[in-house]
Amino acid sequence: MMVKPEDIEVRHSAGSYRVRFCTFAEAAELIPKDSFVITDVNLLEHWGEGFKTTWTVLTLSPGEQTKTLSTASEALQWLAAEGCTRDRTLVALGGGVIGDLTGFVASAYMRGIQFIQIPTTVIAMVDSSVGGKVGVDLPQGKNLVGAFHPPEAVLTPLETLGTLAPARFREGLSEVWKLGFVMNRQFVSELERAPLAPDSEELPGIIAKCVELKKAVVEEDELDLTGRRAILNFGHTIGHALETLSGFEMLHGEAVSVGMAIEARIGERIGVTESGTAEQVLGYLRAAGLPVDLDEAFDARSIVEAIRLDKKATRDGVSLSLLSRIGECKLVSGVPESEVEAALRSR
Ligand SMILES: NC(=O)c1ccc[n+]([C@@H]2O[C@H](COP(=O)([O-])OP(=O)(O)OC[C@H]3O[C@@H](n4cnc5c(N)ncnc54)[C@H](O)[C@@H]3O)[C@@H](O)[C@H]2O)c1
Ligand SMILES: [Zn+2]
Repeated sequence: MMVKPEDIEVRHSAGSYRVRFCTFAEAAELIPKDSFVITDVNLLEHWGEGFKTTWTVLTLSPGEQTKTLSTASEALQWLAAEGCTRDRTLVALGGGVIGDLTGFVASAYMRGIQFIQIPTTVIAMVDSSVGGKVGVDLPQGKNLVGAFHPPEAVLTPLETLGTLAPARFREGLSEVWKLGFVMNRQFVSELERAPLAPDSEELPGIIAKCVELKKAVVEEDELDLTGRRAILNFGHTIGHALETLSGFEMLHGEAVSVGMAIEARIGERIGVTESGTAEQVLGYLRAAGLPVDLDEAFDARSIVEAIRLDKKATRDGVSLSLLSRIGECKLVSGVPESEVEAALRSR
C-alpha cells in the first residue's frame, strides 16, 4: 500500500499550482469532464479504459519524434476543429514528450488556455511537469521552440509507473540521483538506502522530495535567467551530445548518467570538484544499475564538436554545471575543450 505524499504548491510570477499525488482514477475525477486530452498510444493501451470514453482525446505516436512543430500544428487544428473555446482545459497525459508538446499547444492556442499535467514517467513526475517549461524540437536541435506556460495543476498518479518498461523506469532514476547530487547530500544518503522500484514503499516519498527540490530551484529562477536553474543541467551537456550522436538510440536518463560520471571527472581535473567525488558518483550510479562508461563507439573529438553545436561552447571553452561536492553544483564557463577531451579519454 503506497503512502500518499502531501500536496506541494509551486509558486510562479502569475500565481501558483499544486502538485497532487493521487490515483489514476482520482486524477480522472479531478479534471473537468469537457477537457481535451493529448496522450500517446502506450497510455491508451495501459490506462485507456479509465479515460477514453469520458474526454475528447488526441492519441499520438510515442517518442521524441512526436515532439515537433508539425505535431503541434496537428494538435492545434484538432482543438479548433473540435470547437475548443478559451475557457476549456487541455490535459497532458503521459511522459515528458506529451507534457512538453501539450503545454506548448496550450500556450499557443488562442494565445493561451489552461492546461493540466498528468505525468506518467519518472522523468515527467520529478522533472518535466514542474517548472512551466514547454516546447518542441526542431530538426536542428532539442527544445529549440517553446514558452514558459505553468500548468493549472499537476496530478501525479504514482501507480502508472507500474506499467513502464523496466529500462524506462531505471533511466528515470538518473534524474532522481541528479537532484540529490546537485542539491542535497542527505537525499543522496536516503537514496543509497532505499530500494527504488515502482512498487517500493519509499518511492512516493522520494518522488515528492524530488518535486520539492525542483520547486526550490524553479521558484528561485523561474525564467532561467540567474544561472540557478542551470544546476539542473549537471550531466546534460555531455548527455545531450551522447543522445545526439547516438541518433537518440540512447535513452535520455542513460545518457545523463554517463554524462554525470564524465562531468564529475572533468570537475575534478580542473579543480572545481572535490577530489574523490567522481568515484562516489560512479559508485552510486553503478549500484542503481545505471551506465557510467562511455561506449567504445563514441569518439572524444566528436563529442566535443557536438557540445559546440549545442551552443554550450564559446571561444574560451565549454560551459558546464559542475559539482563542487556531493550536494552542491555551480555553473562554470570557460572549461578548456582539452580538459573535456582528456576526461572523455580517461575511460
Ligand atoms: N519541460 C521540462 O522542464 C523538461 C524536463 C525534463 C525533460 N523534458 C522532456 O521530457 C522528454 C522525455 O520525457 P520521458 O522520459 O517521460 O519520455 P517519453 O515521454 O518519451 O516517455 C517514454 C516512453 O514511455 C511511455 N510511457 C509513458 N508513461 C507510461 C506508462 N505509465 N506506462 C507505460 N508506458 C508509458 C511513452 O509512451 C514513451 O514510449 C524529453 O522530450 C525532454 O526534453 C522536459
Ligand atoms: Zn534530463
